[in-house]
Amino acid sequence: MPRTAFVALGMSVPDRVVTNEDLTKLMETSDAWIQERTGIKERRWVPEGRETENSDLALEATRRALAKAGWEPKDLEAIVYCSMSPDHMLPADGCFLNAKLGLPGVPSIDIRNQCTGFIYGLAVADAWIRIGMYRRILLVGSEIHSTGLDVSTRGRDVSVIFGDGAGAALLEATDEPGRGVLSCHLHADGRFATDLYCEAPGSKFHPRVSAGMIESGAVYPRMEGQKVFKNAVVRMPEVMREALAQNGLSPKDLKLVVPHQANLRISQMVQRSLELRDDQVFNNIQRYGNTTAASIPIALAEAVEERGVARGDLVGLCAFGAGFTWARALIRW
Ligand SMILES: CC(C)(COP(=O)(O)OP(=O)(O)OC[C@H]1O[C@@H](n2cnc3c(N)ncnc32)[C@H](O)[C@@H]1OP(=O)(O)O)[C@@H](O)C(=O)NCCC(=O)NCCS
Repeated sequence: MPRTAFVALGMSVPDRVVTNEDLTKLMETSDAWIQERTGIKERRWVPEGRETENSDLALEATRRALAKAGWEPKDLEAIVYCSMSPDHMLPADGCFLNAKLGLPGVPSIDIRNQCTGFIYGLAVADAWIRIGMYRRILLVGSEIHSTGLDVSTRGRDVSVIFGDGAGAALLEATDEPGRGVLSCHLHADGRFATDLYCEAPGSKFHPRVSAGMIESGAVYPRMEGQKVFKNAVVRMPEVMREALAQNGLSPKDLKLVVPHQANLRISQMVQRSLELRDDQVFNNIQRYGNTTAASIPIALAEAVEERGVARGDLVGLCAFGAGFTWARALIRW
């Protein structure tokens, strides 16, 4: 049975840098509060006053990955597009990217699993590759959060965390023994669904969105921050141990762990819990904030270059987020 190898990665973030200091002009907050609680120094937001498409960020990240791999768009047999902030309610953003890449007929699926989206998407792509359905798949995570945040003091607990960006991975079937995705582990617990959620627009409402919903803030993401934090620091190490044990491996075997960039303090607690050295864990939330489904591929793209990940290295990805959902993937590079 073939396995899934990562061939190349690409990333794209908007040029506009929004520092913590910039946010103090919009809401009551401070650089010290944000850095101390989250580790974030700045994030990228799409420019104000002109439309930017989520699928354009994804396109740019994809083009960079294709250039690194020496592939053409026509080499892609399927698109798995992970986002919770698509350009439109329908159709899937993967279809817009499909058109921009000039790939009529190539299947395109959206995965809407928020912070764990990239790993859920990887599990889907990996299953397709293992059963021999496709050999070359584009897996992309892309988010534009900044157009949907409450940037007043009312929404400050959420809005200081999130950033915009995209990351793309080119996946290919390999028959090389031991290489590729070893396993993906996915979990969800819907009892916590409303602890990190955006109430509207929603099909349960008639109409789906109203002036009252905008006024009350129901259209902005809301979060029970401490509950998210407490669950994340338990679930992320737990799912990593589960994956390592199933593969007969230990944390010492890991060359690199790329945790979802939710909060630097969460990453640090995961690192301590698994007794990982600093050089085994990669974080870049300081520069990009939390970009949800894009955070792992953006961090992975930087980490692979900066940390010199080579063939045969063991790489772990783990994430926790809305749902609650949590997930993990182990890859032999
Ligand atoms: C959001 C988070 C940073 C808040 O940190 P916290 O230590 O839990 O802070 P609290 O929510 O208890 O709030 C403490 C105080 O800071 C205030 N506060 C909240 N956001 C603030 C901000 N941006 N700037 C300044 N003060 C803020 C609160 O209003 C509260 O004030 P009060 O004590 O007067 O009521 C933290 O809970 C967290 O990181 N949670 C996980 C979030 C996450 O990872 N989400 C993504 C999921 S993938």
